[in-house]
Amino acid sequence: MTSERAHDGCRTTSEHAHDGCRTTSEHAHDGCPVVPGEPPAYVYDLRELDTHVAEVRAALDGVELHYAVKANPDPELLRVLARYVDGFEVASGGELAHVRALFPEVPVAMGGPGKTDAELAAAVRPADGPAGPGNPGGPGGSRGPETPGGSGGREDSGSRGGSGGRGGSGGRGGSGGRGGSGGRGGSGGREDSGGRGGSGGAPPVHRLHVESPGELRRLLALGWPADVLLRVNLDLPVEGASLAMGGGATPFGMDPGGIAECLALLRGQDLLRWRGVHAHLASGLDAPRMLGLAEAVLDYARGIGAAEVNLGGGMAVSYADPDARFDWKAYGAGLAGLRRPGEVLRVEPGRSLTVYCGRYVTRVIDVKRVHGELFAVVAGGTHHLRTPATKGHDQPLAGWTSAGGPGGPGEPVTIVGQLCTPKDVLARRAPVRLEPGDVVEFAMAGAYAWNISHHDFLMHPRPGFRYLRPTGLESSSHCVDGTGTVGDGM
Ligand SMILES: Cc1ncc(COP(=O)(O)O)c(C=O)c1O
Repeated sequence: MTSERAHDGCRTTSEHAHDGCRTTSEHAHDGCPVVPGEPPAYVYDLRELDTHVAEVRAALDGVELHYAVKANPDPELLRVLARYVDGFEVASGGELAHVRALFPEVPVAMGGPGKTDAELAAAVRPADGPAGPGNPGGPGGSRGPETPGGSGGREDSGSRGGSGGRGGSGGRGGSGGRGGSGGRGGSGGREDSGGRGGSGGAPPVHRLHVESPGELRRLLALGWPADVLLRVNLDLPVEGASLAMGGGATPFGMDPGGIAECLALLRGQDLLRWRGVHAHLASGLDAPRMLGLAEAVLDYARGIGAAEVNLGGGMAVSYADPDARFDWKAYGAGLAGLRRPGEVLRVEPGRSLTVYCGRYVTRVIDVKRVHGELFAVVAGGTHHLRTPATKGHDQPLAGWTSAGGPGGPGEPVTIVGQLCTPKDVLARRAPVRLEPGDVVEFAMAGAYAWNISHHDFLMHPRPGFRYLRPTGLESSSHCVDGTGTVGDGM
């Protein structure tokens, strides 16, 4: 989809945002205006997501597509994605439980460094396997897996709830609060993750991505069968990547020596089925560079006899130039050229699938000049949208609406949030005229945004969550807990 459609013709680059392209409150929110007095809101355009993922799917002919849930685990987004993907990649027991509760039938691949015995057990325990903290870690296991979250899921749902919970504090009363977890349960929240607690019943994961020989030994000790990929970290050039998980000494995956140790462990046993190789070396590379890495990973995989290769995610997105999209067609065509008969290729992008569908909409509270510099303080901030602080960019403006009439270009203003830290900056020196009451919309807030943010710092209210659905323009509001799990309480 084009960004024009995403923003109803209001282009999103900071350059364009200043050329008089302003949102009206109607088209800014597609009938979902920010009501004065409400906290800020995330607005997810599920129509945009649907179109975009359909295009990605079509470009990847013959290549399996998983979605990396860590990018945004919001159930409403996952429901759209589930129509197109071959599976979900999860990286913790929490994500595993979340996805299983929502989509019991969809294949899940589990990766992530530092998997505990309990997480490994939750991933591979047979549907009819022994369950619960009282059971040993499986037929061959000597250690009983501890139960993540104890017997009642997250500790906060018990201890906080028991003391009145956060809902009781009034601050988040409107959303039912975290202590009142009924909302979460309503949409498959983490309490539904009985699977985590070892209740059994869930099918084992489709693939387990092994991170180290030590992890493989612990998996073997559980005594349950599983289909595994070995995560490799090859010494390949990843310069220019925004994040490097491989290509040198990092805690992720194994060098060829570690892989060889795992292959030796896997030989002479028939519990674990070795399916192939997983590699997620870097984030932020364009299609030609991703294809270069893919070719090298495939060479390596073939050399050790692997016919299944997960090439990871990391497809580039540009916060400086939202219109510059990853070239999925070139990538798909390139992978089709690399793939040999009988080989299974899989990718697991996160950011590049969901980032464009999300906007963060807020209001200006105060405008002030300090030592000559102009600042606009908006409701919310980086405790809702941490991405610009973590990635060091200006969050692109999708548009702004003046409360007292049309907005317009203006003296550069730095847009900051409500936190007591100089790091709470959403965008620097945006040349737009802002006044108290104006509505400001930030684009590219659909991935690694709410779910990576430090929500509790200063205990400000949480944002609303609205969804523009493929079936029409209706929107809805939800309360979302710290995991991104949506409740139906609002
Ligand atoms: C193993 C793995 N796969 C996939 C992803 C998704 O990456 P991205 O969101 O950049 O596509 C990540 C992100 O860290 C990851 O660690």
